[in-house]
Amino acid sequence: MKKNVQISSVELEKQISFMAQIKALNTEEKYVYIQTFGCQQNEADSERLLGMAAQMGYMRVSDAEKADLILINTCAVREHAELKALSITGNFKHCKEKNPSLIIGICGCMVSQEHRLGDIKKRYPYVDFLLGTTLIHRFPEILSSVITQKKRFFWIDPDTAVIAEELPVQREKGGSSAWVSVMYGCNNFCTYCIVPYVRGRERSRRPQAILDEIRALIADGVKEITLLGQNVNSYSPCEPEDYDFSDLLTDICALEGEAIIHFMTSHPKDATHKLIDVIAANPPAKNKIGISRRFHLPLQSGNDRILKAMNRRYDSARYLSLVSYMREKMPDIAITTDIIVGFPTETEEEFQDTLKVISTVRYDNIYSFIYSKRNGTPAAEMEDQVPDEIKSERMRRLLDLQGAISKEKNSDYVGKVLRGLVEGRSKTNPLRLTARTENNRLIHFEGDDSLIGEYADFFIEEAEAHELFGKLVK
Ligand code: 5AD
Ligand code: SF4
Repeated sequence: MKKNVQISSVELEKQISFMAQIKALNTEEKYVYIQTFGCQQNEADSERLLGMAAQMGYMRVSDAEKADLILINTCAVREHAELKALSITGNFKHCKEKNPSLIIGICGCMVSQEHRLGDIKKRYPYVDFLLGTTLIHRFPEILSSVITQKKRFFWIDPDTAVIAEELPVQREKGGSSAWVSVMYGCNNFCTYCIVPYVRGRERSRRPQAILDEIRALIADGVKEITLLGQNVNSYSPCEPEDYDFSDLLTDICALEGEAIIHFMTSHPKDATHKLIDVIAANPPAKNKIGISRRFHLPLQSGNDRILKAMNRRYDSARYLSLVSYMREKMPDIAITTDIIVGFPTETEEEFQDTLKVISTVRYDNIYSFIYSKRNGTPAAEMEDQVPDEIKSERMRRLLDLQGAISKEKNSDYVGKVLRGLVEGRSKTNPLRLTARTENNRLIHFEGDDSLIGEYADFFIEEAEAHELFGKLVK
C-alpha cells in the first residue's frame, strides 16, 4: 500500500485557525492582488491562494496600487517567465514605498530553486515571504508569521509531498468552466525540465475527493472541467489498488449531469489503449458527462536520439502508433502537442525529423518552445548548446509548417455546423463572443451575453489557423 499523503487533520485545523486569526485582525476591508504566470496548475494554485485569502478577509482587486497583499505566483519552466516575474516584482517596490504595511509574497515554482531564493532574499528586500508550491496549504501560517512577527519568511521544501483537501478555493476560470487537480508533482525527470525539482514527487488525490468536487461543480452549473496534473496518465491513488486514470474517467462519466471533461497533460510513455478506449466510449452528449474530443500528447521531438537524450522513454514509432490507434477509435479527435526546438546537440537533420512527424500527424495545434537552459537540470550541463539564432530560425520554420496545417484543418469546418460552449466576450474583439467546441476549437460569433455558459450550434463561415468565425444557428 502506498503512503498516505493527505495533510493531517491537526495541520488542517492549524491552518484554519490561522485564517480565523487573520480574519479577526482584518477589521477593515482588505484587498489582495494576484498575478499568475505559467501553466494551468499555477492557475489552480492561485484559486486556492485566493480562496484562503478570502477567508482571511481579503477581497480581490485588479489594481495592485489598492492592495494590502500582493501575491506573485511564478513559473520556472522557461527563463522568459522567470524574468517577467522578477521584473513585475521590481515594479511593486513603489507600492511598498507608498504603503509600508503592504505585504508582498512570491509563490510558485520559481522560488523553489536555491539560486532564485538567494537572489530574491538579497535583491528584493521588500518581499515579505516566499512560499514553495508544496507548502501552499501553509499560506495562512506564513502570512500570520509575517504580520505578527514583522519578519521575512522563506518556506521552501520541494521534498514535502502532501495533498491538502478541504482548503477553500475561489474559482476564477469562469462561471461555466473549472480546473480540478487530480495529482501533483512529477517523477519523470525529462532532462530539460525543472518541474520535478520544484513541484516534488507525484502524489494523487483520492478518487472520492475528486468525484465529490466534480459532483459539486456540476450541481453549481459548471459545464466544462479540466482535470490537471503534470502527467495525468500516471494517476495512482493510495486506494483502491490498481485504480488508474482511465478508471477515474469512467467513474466521472458515470456521474449525473451534463459536462465536458478535458484533461492535461498526458505523457506518451504512459498513455494506454485502455485510456483511449475509455475516451472513445464516452463522447460528449446532451444530458451526459463526456470526454473532450481533444488529446494533448506532448511529442517534444520527432527524433529518437533526442528523445533518448531528453529521457522521454518512448520513440517516434511508439508515439505514431498511439496517434494511429486514437484516430482509428475516434476519427474526429483533435490532437495537439508540445515541441521543444533546439534541445542541446539537436542537429539540422534531427530537427527535420520533428518536422516529418508534424507533417505525418497533422496536429490541430502545436505549442512550441525554444529550449531554455534550466539551472540544475542535466540538459543545462550538456555541451553543444544550440546557438540562439539557429533555435529561432528552426522555430520560424516549425511555425510556418504548423500554421499552414492548422489553417487547412480549420478550413474543413467552413460550411459545417459545430456545437460549442459559449465562454464569454472575445479577448481580441469585445464586440464578439467566443465558444469552444468539444475538440477545443475557438469560434468567434456575434451574440449577447445571455448565451454565456450555454451550449449552442454555429454555422462556420471562415477559418484562420487558430480560430473559426461563425453565425449562431437558432
Ligand atoms: N525549455 C523549453 N521548453 C520547455 N518545456 C519544459 N521545459 C522546457 C525548457 N527547459 C516545455 C515542454 C513542456 C511544456 C509545458 O514546456 O514542451 O511540455
Ligand atoms: Fe517536465 Fe517531463 Fe514531468 Fe512534463 S513529464 S513536467 S516535461 S519532467
